[in-house]
Formats: sequence, structure tokens, C-alpha cells
Amino acid sequence: MSRIAFEPLHDEFGARVLGVDLVLGLRPDIVQSIREALDTWSLLCFPDQAMNDDAHLALTRHLGEPEAEHVTLGSTGKVVYFGTVGNVADDGSKQDAVHPRTRYQTGNELWHSDSSFRAVPTLYSINHAYEVPGEGGGTCFASMRTAWDRLPEKTQDDIEPLRVIHDYVFSRTQVAPVNLAHAASLPPVVHRLVRRNPANGRKNYYVGSHARSVLGWTCGAKSRELIDDLMDRATRSEHVYTHPWKAGDTVIWDNRCLLHRGAGYDADRWRRRMRQTRVCGAGPTLEE
Ligand code: OGA
Ligand code: MN
Repeated sequence: MSRIAFEPLHDEFGARVLGVDLVLGLRPDIVQSIREALDTWSLLCFPDQAMNDDAHLALTRHLGEPEAEHVTLGSTGKVVYFGTVGNVADDGSKQDAVHPRTRYQTGNELWHSDSSFRAVPTLYSINHAYEVPGEGGGTCFASMRTAWDRLPEKTQDDIEPLRVIHDYVFSRTQVAPVNLAHAASLPPVVHRLVRRNPANGRKNYYVGSHARSVLGWTCGAKSRELIDDLMDRATRSEHVYTHPWKAGDTVIWDNRCLLHRGAGYDADRWRRRMRQTRVCGAGPTLEE
């Protein structure tokens, strides 16, 4: 096999990885290179992968503990490791824009970090694209690490000690109802606002659509102002990389330091189908 090579996708983060077969070629040294590259690049795209669910789950396990998908877990108590992103049902039929599942996913068009509403949030998400729209349907990414680096030093010092409440019901009810069992399974959690990558020491702030308020701040408007300002700073267009999915792309990203959102697409017109797994974080962010 050819040597592993990285081509930058954006000047702040992200790389296309060539010379790796994620299905047949996952030797321990390759897995180690992928881990290290994720600490450096935050997002890796592996094009032209002949992926399937078994290989996808094997890749997930190589990178850590698979995370139980929260909608199924919260609503039914069952552990499944895959989520399906897009508008194609398990039986292959297309679910149009008005379908509850498709509408529910529009919540992913708000900037977020996966499972930031869990006590132990997602470390990596791994998406594989099987069917992509002919138009639209990209996923936008932005780095809270480079955004942290751009903050004035005084702001960095002021926000470093803060803790933030993340709340799934708060964020998701803005676009769609959340069933009772699911809502009850996801009480609000507290995270550090500022996180540090244990391998390279790079810091970032950690916000997103699920970030509801700053712990201990009684003025909701002040909380909102800070969180919204941090979101805006990270996601100005020049800092955003929009991934134009091609069928066969496997993308792995680091949710500790990246925000992402769906760019949207015409779900009545196009089919879009991605499979996703997530790797659990190392522990609660307060213990990092
Ligand atoms: C995700 C996600 C948004 C999209 O895959 O976790 O939020 O529609 N995707 O691309
Ligand atoms: Mn997501």
C-alpha cells in the first residue's frame, strides 16, 4: 500500500487523507497515525472507501468506545451504535421534508458539537456517505481552537474558569418536539467552557447549540450574549470549511474542538444517506 499522505482542506484545520484503506488496511501503526492526525488536523476525510457497517464499527472500536445512539437509547432503552443522517429510511424509501424524522434533523443545521448534552460528550464522529444530493447537503465545520487563539488575552483569562450548562431539550425543541422518554433520559449537564487537548496542549472553547447558559450567571441575557458571541467568532465565513460530500467519503472529526452544522438541502428532491457512529469521550469534561 502507498504511504499515508495529508492534503489540507482549509488553512485552519482539516485534511484529506490518501493512501489508507479503512476497510482492509487498518494496521495498528495506521490507527496510531490517524489518532495523531486527528489531534493535529481535527478533521480527516478519507475518499473512495468501500465502507460497510461492519467495517465502520470496527474502525470505531479501533478509535475507542462506541457511543450508544441517544435517540434510540432514550426512547426505547436499546443500544445501537449507528445513526442514519439524511432522509432515507432503513427500507430505502425517501422521507420528504415534512416527515418527522427529516424535520427533526433540521436541528443539525444549528452549529453544534455532537452529544455536548451528555455528561461524557462525543470525542469523534465518523460519518460515511452512501448517497448524496446533486445540490446542497454539505456539512459546515469551524474550529473553536483557532477561534480561541484569536480571542484577546483578557477575554481568554476571563472565560477560562467558566462552566456551561448544555441541554438537549432546550436546543432541540426549537425545531421539533422531543418525546418524553427521550427528554427524561437527557437532563442538563455541565461542561468546562475551555478545554485542552491532552496530547498537544492546544486550548479551545466549547459551545454549540446545546449550550444553554453559564453556570451561576443569573442573567440569562448575559449568558446568551457570551455564548452567541463565541459562536459568531468561530463561525464567520472565512473560518468555515464546508465539506462537499461525495459518495464513498468517510469523515472523522474531533468534537472536542470543532463545531459543525448541516448546510441544508431539498429533501423533497434529493436522497441523502450517511451512516454515523460516535466514539465516547474519555470522561466528564470537568475532570479533564
Ligand atoms: C452530523 C450532523 C449535519 C448534516 O452528522 O452529526 O450534524 O446534515 N450532520 O450534515
Ligand atoms: Mn452532528
